[in-house]
Amino acid sequence: MKFLWEKGVWIALACSLSLIAPAASHAARRIPPNPETAKQNGGDYRRGKKIYGEICFSCHGVKGDGKGPIWRTVRPRPQVFISPYMKRMTDDYMFAVVKFGKMNVLKNRTEGHKVKNGVPTAMPSFGESLEDEQIRKLIRWVRGFSKGEQPKDAVSREIFTDACSQCHGGKGLGNGARPVEDQDPGRPFISHIQPPPMNYHLKEQMARFGDGFLFWVIKLGRIDASEIKKFNFMQSYGHLLKDEDIWSVVRYVREAFINGKPRKKK
Ligand code: HEC
Ligand code: HEC
Repeated sequence: MKFLWEKGVWIALACSLSLIAPAASHAARRIPPNPETAKQNGGDYRRGKKIYGEICFSCHGVKGDGKGPIWRTVRPRPQVFISPYMKRMTDDYMFAVVKFGKMNVLKNRTEGHKVKNGVPTAMPSFGESLEDEQIRKLIRWVRGFSKGEQPKDAVSREIFTDACSQCHGGKGLGNGARPVEDQDPGRPFISHIQPPPMNYHLKEQMARFGDGFLFWVIKLGRIDASEIKKFNFMQSYGHLLKDEDIWSVVRYVREAFINGKPRKKK
């Protein structure tokens, strides 16, 4: 415990808390389960399918498996829509990401569009509080979840519990106190912070990330990792697509991939 204090983890924590302050002020509000807002917002499945087949498939894949023709050229790899992880993402967040691009959503530059049922939250930076070697060990420790066996590393475990578990969950399931807030335990939840922190037990999701990406995301935070180290973000398509088109493609992603064929429970 003492070394964490010395390394100033708590300063980093205080910073990360200020990022998610809006979440705290809504502590008493319950998030409705799976809000199917794309349909309500006039999204049309067939139109969405067409747009997906013209634009999105090249990265996210015709089958939504994140392996379209150019998937190897982007880091991190494109999101895997058929993963059970996606159930935690809201339609409204997806709409905002496609319209404004993920960077702008995380920076709250969404021209007055408020992401409902979830607070945009960027992974905070820990470069001030953790040594590079500690970060590398943490990565090995985190990857252990999807391998089914974690290295015996009490220090990483302690750092994770103290500094990371509030968002990522003590067992790396992405279900810390902040994303879950006051939702019923034991049933699938909608993450209160968007994007939802990863469920580290999902192999296909962890395969999207190289060690270099994970290192810089922890050291610099998500926004700087992309601005300084040039890791990819989901780009904006608001200049190409009308709002109805975007709601349509979100509806297609939700119905064809997320609700359609979850591969594993969790
Ligand atoms: C050039 C490749 C590329 C194309 C084309 C593309 N995406 Fe993405 N998309 C990505 C990448 C990379 C990510 C993962 C970003 C991350 O993990 O931060 C992503 C993530 C997403 C996400 C999840 C956001 C998140 O936080 O992970 C959604 C939703 C999404 N894309 C929808 C779409 C839709 C809809 C289209 C078509 C209109 C599309 N994408 C086209 C690369 C692409
Ligand atoms: C305030 C909440 C919060 C805290 C605290 C936090 N993270 Fe994150 N982290 C996130 C979110 C949200 C993402 C998803 C980023 C994205 O998709 O753009 C993320 C992403 C990551 C990733 C990239 C893979 C993934 O899950 O998408 C790693 C690795 C990671 N965090 C590790 C850590 C470690 C290690 C700590 C503690 C030292 C930590 N995080 C603390 C919210 C947090």
